[in-house]
Amino acid sequence: MVNSMTESNVIQPDNAQLSTKNRIKPSPRVNMAHLAKDMGIYPYFIPNYGQIGPRTIINGKETIMLGSNNYMGLANHPEMIRVAMEAVQKYGTGCTGSRYLNGTLDLHIELEEKLAKFTEKDAGICFSTGMQANLGVISGLAQKGDYIISDAKNHASIVDGCRLSYAETKVFDHDNMEDLERVLRTLPRDANKLVISDGVFSMEGNLANVPDLSELSEQYNARLMIDDAHGVGYLGKHGEGTGGYYNMMDKIDLLVGTFSKSFASIGGFVTAREDIIDHLQHHARSLIYSASLPPASVAAASKAIDLFYEGDERREQVMKNAKMFRDGLDELGFTTIQGKTPVVPIIIGDVMKMLKFNHKLIEAGVYTNPVPPPAAVKAMLRTSMIATHTEQDVQEALEIFEKVGRKTRILKKKK
Ligand SMILES: Cc1ncc(COP(=O)(O)O)c(C=O)c1O
Repeated sequence: MVNSMTESNVIQPDNAQLSTKNRIKPSPRVNMAHLAKDMGIYPYFIPNYGQIGPRTIINGKETIMLGSNNYMGLANHPEMIRVAMEAVQKYGTGCTGSRYLNGTLDLHIELEEKLAKFTEKDAGICFSTGMQANLGVISGLAQKGDYIISDAKNHASIVDGCRLSYAETKVFDHDNMEDLERVLRTLPRDANKLVISDGVFSMEGNLANVPDLSELSEQYNARLMIDDAHGVGYLGKHGEGTGGYYNMMDKIDLLVGTFSKSFASIGGFVTAREDIIDHLQHHARSLIYSASLPPASVAAASKAIDLFYEGDERREQVMKNAKMFRDGLDELGFTTIQGKTPVVPIIIGDVMKMLKFNHKLIEAGVYTNPVPPPAAVKAMLRTSMIATHTEQDVQEALEIFEKVGRKTRILKKKK
């Protein structure tokens, strides 16, 4: 027997007719997904058929890509593609083992040394994803009797890293330094304490208050870890990230990042003092018990750092694009969240309205990321700009937003 949502491709068995071992707990999230599929407006797992650039091919149509994290526009850069291909030719397609055992290449070591220099730290190690970096770093460093003090809006991989650790986790209100101090004041001065915050918060694109985070961490004898997945590449003098934006790289004890965004590859990393990296090399389980990054990804990540050093024009361009797009949306009457990054969130408020609007945008040739609560406070479309978007891309996207916005009544009719 199937339930009423027969339009979705997944046939839903009736739980009442199944033995307990075959039942799956009902999930509001899955129900919502099926409802969206039935309405033909399901927005996830949509395939791209073209290069990952400012425009791609979706549903057979050229589409302006406003939903990637390819901030520096390197995902289809000819040099990135060249080094990735050369690495495959030289080393093969995969390392078939963990960094700890047979899976280390000279390329990994070179990349780690480059990362350490780039982020102004002693040493670094690479993980196979940013998620694995957070899982391994947090659980490998914070042990029983220690404390983790984590921002309420930190990325899910930080939340899961805290869950894996035997340390006690305390959560402070998002970006609220008074609340952070309230928490720190209650903790023993001599206990190991790790304060963790995203550098750029992934959904809304707002910057962490690194100056106050660092001052409070110092005052209360805690280490500071910043996950700068969304900040590295375009912030700072040569793209070193949020710490660079504040000119405070030295105040960050552990810098975590990912290669899946501005680096236009895949993988994660942490850089820190040498003894911390040494400890993690022997305690980070997601590093030790998982295969290492494949050659093509390492070579691309390494080339991305070279391109960041010479990336002033790209940094300027991505910020210019973000300003042009945000100003244009504001002028049209959309509600955007202000910010200093290429992430431009557009508040819609209602989940169904957001899904319908998003669907019409895709039909009209613009791709965005719909974000329902609780990942965002209110249902919103997360858009993000790329350094290689042209003025024509931005203007065309704005025209489509206006046309679809009026049709779907997200925008008021013109008087
Ligand atoms: C803040 C933050 N940390 C970590 C990650 C995980 O990175 P990865 O995609 O490399 O697993 C993400 C990815 O969205 C992120 O936004």
